[in-house]
Amino acid sequence: MIFIKTEEEIELLKKACDLCSRTLGEVASWVRPGVTTQKLDTVAREFILDNGGHPACLGYHGFPGTLCIEVNEMVVHGFPSNYALREGDIVGTDCVVELNGFHGDSCYTFAVGEIDEKWQKLLDITRQSLYVGIEKALSGNRIGDIGNAVQTFCEKNGMSVVREMCGHGIGRSMHEDPEVPNYGRRGIGPKLKPGMAICIEPMINLGSKNIVIENDGWQCRTKDRKPSAHFEHTLLITEDKPEILTTFSYIEEALEKSKA
Ligand code: MF3
Ligand code: CO
Repeated sequence: MIFIKTEEEIELLKKACDLCSRTLGEVASWVRPGVTTQKLDTVAREFILDNGGHPACLGYHGFPGTLCIEVNEMVVHGFPSNYALREGDIVGTDCVVELNGFHGDSCYTFAVGEIDEKWQKLLDITRQSLYVGIEKALSGNRIGDIGNAVQTFCEKNGMSVVREMCGHGIGRSMHEDPEVPNYGRRGIGPKLKPGMAICIEPMINLGSKNIVIENDGWQCRTKDRKPSAHFEHTLLITEDKPEILTTFSYIEEALEKSKA
């Protein structure tokens, strides 16, 4: 069942999304060679708790982190660990915050120092594909219009789209209906209506689309061990253009500062 959010619920959703975005801003200020992914996770957890939120992934069906940490060939649901980031890595940090009963969900993939040109293109195309999908998140369109746009854009640029993992509705639960695939046909699936809140989260591979799930049941890597990127926003369907409730602006500010 797809919930249409009330004005009051939308206000709460916005607050959760803002805390989620600010958390990733904090994380961004720590991304550099030598920093462990466990450190990034601790920074996120402490920031969320200090701001009255709850790290929604931590303990979710037994997940061991506040962040899903996605280094290089890790597609999704990577565990924080004592791995120290290296120059040339890419690292996705996927964060879900619960605040006052509502959830905000966002993911950003960082370059660690200087990275390979092809890997940079993967980051650029994946990030752009998120916005290509968001453009289709219009009242009256269908869920399939989003996935079709993401897939067409990524494949045109020589990248492949992971099939097994999808975006989703969001609200009082982290995962609500509908599922939001990053591929598929136009004109299929549920119709978008004002007041729906969804997460669009393309997971895009430089090599083939195939993935392997580890024996732990969580960590997903590309089958060919080539890199994968992941960006995500939470958004609200309106009468007009979608309203993007999470933002990368805190991340961008932090990255500018660490360059200076
Ligand atoms: N953004 C991810 C998702 O929507 C976060 C969930 S991670 C989990 O699936 F650990 F909580 F499952
Ligand atoms: Co999500």
